[in-house]
Amino acid sequence: MKDNFYSNIDNYFNKKAKFYSQKGKSFFWSKLRNSELNGFKKLINVFKKKIFLELGSGSGFYSNFLILRGAKQVYAIDRSKKMVESISNKKVKKLNLDASNFSLNKKFSYILCMGLLEFVKSQEKVLLNAKKHSNNNSKIFILVPRDNFFGYIYKIFHKFNGITIKLYSLKGIQQLLARTGWHLDKYVKVHYFGIIVRAKIK
Ligand SMILES: C[S@@+](CC[C@H](N)C(=O)[O-])C[C@H]1O[C@@H](n2cnc3c(N)ncnc32)[C@H](O)[C@@H]1O
Repeated sequence: MKDNFYSNIDNYFNKKAKFYSQKGKSFFWSKLRNSELNGFKKLINVFKKKIFLELGSGSGFYSNFLILRGAKQVYAIDRSKKMVESISNKKVKKLNLDASNFSLNKKFSYILCMGLLEFVKSQEKVLLNAKKHSNNNSKIFILVPRDNFFGYIYKIFHKFNGITIKLYSLKGIQQLLARTGWHLDKYVKVHYFGIIVRAKIK
């Protein structure tokens, strides 16, 4: 999966795979994570026996949570080999693929896209591909950083690793969803700079 746009991103996440899968991280990191998880729980309450698709799964923080809550299976897609390799749950199907162009010949009612879009080359391609893997009742859950002061600090943090991330306004998210065949259903702001949106097929 060689692509110059992704060379720093892949290097960074391959290096971070161990950290992502390790428990007991710093207080600040855990605080952010808890806030994101609580926000996600406000937008979804059905897990049992469901099959999920997770785009940009990393080392499976959300995939593992879904299984713990009773999901039947999760298809976890990530372009970092090290990240998907560190998922150990048997009910998680690990797929080292790019979220913008994989093809599974399968439709999902629930799709997660948590902390992915700010890194990708084309957010449109990812959401259009998510749509291709959806049915008329599908819902997608998207976590992105907001374009506020703290989001800007987060952006600078990634700049030090040679990665330029995107920040999002609510309007920008709505427009992106509209361009890709989705529409915003509900959202929650989390911690200092995150927003999680739930969107449905238009
Ligand atoms: C900030 S991490 C989030 C991981 C996970 N969702 C979580 O919350 O723990 C972003 C992940 O997106 C992956 N990623 C970046 N660009 C991607 C792409 N085009 N397709 C698939 N995965 C991608 C990275 O490898 C990384 O694992």
